[in-house]
Amino acid sequence: MGDDWMSNDGVNNGRRRFLVAATSVVGAAGVVGVAVPFVGSWFPSARAKAAGAPVKVNVSKIEPGQQIVAEWRGQPVFISRRTPEALALLEEMDSILADPDSKSADQPDYITGRNRSIRPELLVVLGICTHLGCSPLFKPQVGAVDMGADWKGGYFCPCHGSHYDMSGRVFRNNPAPLNLPVPPHSYESDDVIVIGVDQEETA
Ligand code: FES
Repeated sequence: MGDDWMSNDGVNNGRRRFLVAATSVVGAAGVVGVAVPFVGSWFPSARAKAAGAPVKVNVSKIEPGQQIVAEWRGQPVFISRRTPEALALLEEMDSILADPDSKSADQPDYITGRNRSIRPELLVVLGICTHLGCSPLFKPQVGAVDMGADWKGGYFCPCHGSHYDMSGRVFRNNPAPLNLPVPPHSYESDDVIVIGVDQEETA
């Protein structure tokens, strides 16, 4: 995939107010200490991160209509807070989508329906186009001038023109074959999402 998603973040950054997630890695850090007492061991190595250590993200500062980008396993994770209006528009998208029910999508079993989220308003998807791996741009504005009057908000991949709705569902007859994947995640509290830990595992 290279650094494509990082450069695209720059495009996002220039177009709209953009928050960078303050992330922290949990897991291995807490069990080190007695046997390996040097301070560096309290922080997971790059190798541990790559292996998939969970990442905590505070979502309390994401305002309606905004998105932040976290990083998990070296991949961008889009976390957006959708407005009630955006959620209402999802139903209107079904007829132009390749897989409106996400039957072929890469997502956990607890992710269902049009919202594709644990909480209706908070979408968590991998920011990687299912065509060739570019990072789609966040285009939440209905009727955005650069997207056309019919645009109901969503994501646009600048590499080959794939469109996704505000749930990361891909439009029919686009280069991308699948909806944006939803990574395993759960809520540690009202404000904190843990990416990499399934919902059931915290019950
Ligand atoms: S990589 Fe997104 S459309 Fe090709």
